[in-house]
Amino acid sequence: MNAGTATPFNIRFGPKEPRIGSDLWSSEHTSIRSARLVNYWRIVWLVVNPKQAIVLVAAGSGSRLGMGVPKAQVRIGDATILEHALRACLASRIDAHVCVVLPPGDDTLRAVVDHSGGPSVTVVEGGVTRQASVRAGLSTLPSTVRYVLVHDAARALTPPEVFRRVLQTLMDGAEAVTPGVAVADTIKSVSDGCVAATPARAGLRAIQTPQGFTLELLRRVHSETSDADITDDAMLVESLGVPVRVVEGHPEAFKVTTPLDLMLAEALVRRAREHAGEQQ
Ligand code: CTP
Ligand code: MG
Repeated sequence: MNAGTATPFNIRFGPKEPRIGSDLWSSEHTSIRSARLVNYWRIVWLVVNPKQAIVLVAAGSGSRLGMGVPKAQVRIGDATILEHALRACLASRIDAHVCVVLPPGDDTLRAVVDHSGGPSVTVVEGGVTRQASVRAGLSTLPSTVRYVLVHDAARALTPPEVFRRVLQTLMDGAEAVTPGVAVADTIKSVSDGCVAATPARAGLRAIQTPQGFTLELLRRVHSETSDADITDDAMLVESLGVPVRVVEGHPEAFKVTTPLDLMLAEALVRRAREHAGEQQ
């Protein structure tokens, strides 16, 4: 993406934060020419020596959304779910290699990735389960990668600060990190049609993505566990007894799962567009 282009997306996410995850290119530059030169070398460095990666899983079918096309192809306003998700990854301004996991043979989505404009973006074909898709993404990551963020493309409108918070917590020493938000409803566990227990709401969090891990840990847990009921990567790490740090998520990082979620996402994108119009 051209850094100077004022897209509705840039406006949606507000002013730019400094880049994160790059030890080389963090200083301020006084002239446009030196800034351009530094940006050029930053991209070269990122391509040959990425320290962070984002695995963006977008290979699901979207059966609960029921639109008759893979969920990542479904539009929210002016762009597909995959375009929004990719823009969100790039807007985080994390110096990361991005691996997008797509449904096998989906040329429509491949074209979306080709036009993303990200400096280091690759595609891999996904598997039958989310876990298989994540594993496919992990298997392609360069050995220079230390931290990996696994993100659901279906959380298409995730604000940049959630990505940054997760990576910063890893850089501060955590091995596994997940964003979470407080739950509004009272949650009960139910068995045979009857309430079995009511966990205290204050201790509950609805878990989101991107979830962050050291690459070494995530590769290890994925190679050791294969279970159809695994719905996120933190579950795998928990099963090994490794602590998973919880950081604040964001209400707009909700997952587009049902038609009602899609209506909410469309309303948010429309509001951002109107806001952008007012600013011009
Ligand atoms: N996903 C994936 N590969 C799969 C299944 C899911 O990459 N085999 C991805 C989805 O594309 C999505 C994320 O995992 O970004 C979360 O999955 P979910 O919300 O369940 O999406 P779908 O599986 O597409 O939806 P559904 O379960 O309704 O079919
Ligand atoms: Mg699914």
